[in-house]
Amino acid sequence: MATILGIDEQAILAAANVLAQGKLVAIPTETVYGLAADATNGSAVAGIFEAKGRPHFNPLICHVSDITMAERYAEIDPISRQLINAFWPGPLTLVLPLKPGADIHPLVAAGLDTIALRMPRGVARKIIAALDRPLAAPSANTSGKISGTSALAVEEDLGLKIAMILDAGPSEVGLESTIVKVEGNRVLMLRPGGLAAEEIEALLGEKLDRIDQRAAIQAPGMMASHYAPMTGVRLNVREVAPGEALLAFGPQRAIGASEAKAILNLSTTGSLHEAATNLFDFMKRLDATGSTMIAVEPIPFNGLGEAINDRLIRAAAPRALSVTEMEQIK
Ligand code: TXA
Ligand code: MG
Repeated sequence: MATILGIDEQAILAAANVLAQGKLVAIPTETVYGLAADATNGSAVAGIFEAKGRPHFNPLICHVSDITMAERYAEIDPISRQLINAFWPGPLTLVLPLKPGADIHPLVAAGLDTIALRMPRGVARKIIAALDRPLAAPSANTSGKISGTSALAVEEDLGLKIAMILDAGPSEVGLESTIVKVEGNRVLMLRPGGLAAEEIEALLGEKLDRIDQRAAIQAPGMMASHYAPMTGVRLNVREVAPGEALLAFGPQRAIGASEAKAILNLSTTGSLHEAATNLFDFMKRLDATGSTMIAVEPIPFNGLGEAINDRLIRAAAPRALSVTEMEQIK
């Protein structure tokens, strides 16, 4: 059962302490309650997907306490900086290029080379400052349920799966943050949210570009926000061809594994949790080996296996999935 605390100085330190141990804490932000984990700790981040029961890995928003922390992880262009100066802390998230070598676990950005950053108001920001590390935090609710906007709602939904909940009363905004991305000199709104588009448009003196939300929902596999390797991907492989790179799983190897150009094992013990933390990093590394194909050993569909398989299926057919196929793998 999660411990529920108020939001005094002691609670902030207790939350930072629990987060530093790689555990999950539900924290109040001005938009909705977030299910937070240390963004530098892959195992903690995998725990978010486990607790939410998410059937896929989507990139998570990373929360920072100040601009200096944001600059550790992302390249900030002048327009993004203008938005940051005007609206942070607050319900605005910016998608920015991830700095090479930035200490953020690849599972946070689902293997992308961009990172979504936001500086929340209030107690969340104090916790991040106390921890001195960014927090990955999607809304605190089971996948498919509505976002948690009170400590009680979070407790009922996730209380058995997380270590701690901080109670700051009902969320001020009650709606997730607005997400934007600067492309050249245009600002694209990726998700409407708690900061009205008009407010951003008033600052910029021009209209935002909008993506077609319905198209994005109908065909998530076609969204630009999915990492796709250059090398082809072959799934459920029981026999490896020479020249292929092998993404292995568990203690037993596919036939011909010794002929593979490279082998990386997601988890030699068959832990899906460990496999989730290695997935994006290993796909990138095998992609860089110049192999003819990335061959992937069978991975079970239980627990985090569903999200791992979802990601691999998208990687195997990154641009050619029809809406019908998408429905089948959802
Ligand atoms: O208000 C909020 O934003 C809440 C509170 C807890 O802060 N957080 C939240 O986080 O809604 P999350 O992780 O559920 O938002 C994830 C969404 C993804 O579905 C995706 O649309 C977008 O953020 N996103 C994250 N990283 C991205 C990236 N690198 N490129 C494009 N979109 C990204
Ligand atoms: Mg949500």
